[in-house]
Amino acid sequence: MESGYVRVADTSEIPIGKTKKVIVQSKEILLANVNGTYYAIGNVCTHQKGDLSMGTLEGSIVTCPKHKARFDVTSGKVVSGPKMGLFHPKIADEPVFIVKTENTDILIKL
Ligand code: FES
Repeated sequence: MESGYVRVADTSEIPIGKTKKVIVQSKEILLANVNGTYYAIGNVCTHQKGDLSMGTLEGSIVTCPKHKARFDVTSGKVVSGPKMGLFHPKIADEPVFIVKTENTDILIKL
């Protein structure tokens, strides 16, 4: 295995359209399977720490279960901010991790 990569899951654990939370070196990471390609971004919502793995994935967009902020799992970028009545706070993008697969292993680079 190339150095810097850590095995975090098996491909069978994350079907197309699904996500999974993994914790690696005390970082919470969201793995997502978008049409057979795996992506990894931070799992903790940059707004108020919603658990993105408990949200929904549609295409490449994951929606936070708390206040519905949306992030693109391919880039970590905020697609739309939290919905809190008339408030539309600005929030930070999620960190992105490089992912690769080897056979059925999903590896990420930290
Ligand atoms: S905690 Fe995610 S949108 Fe508020």
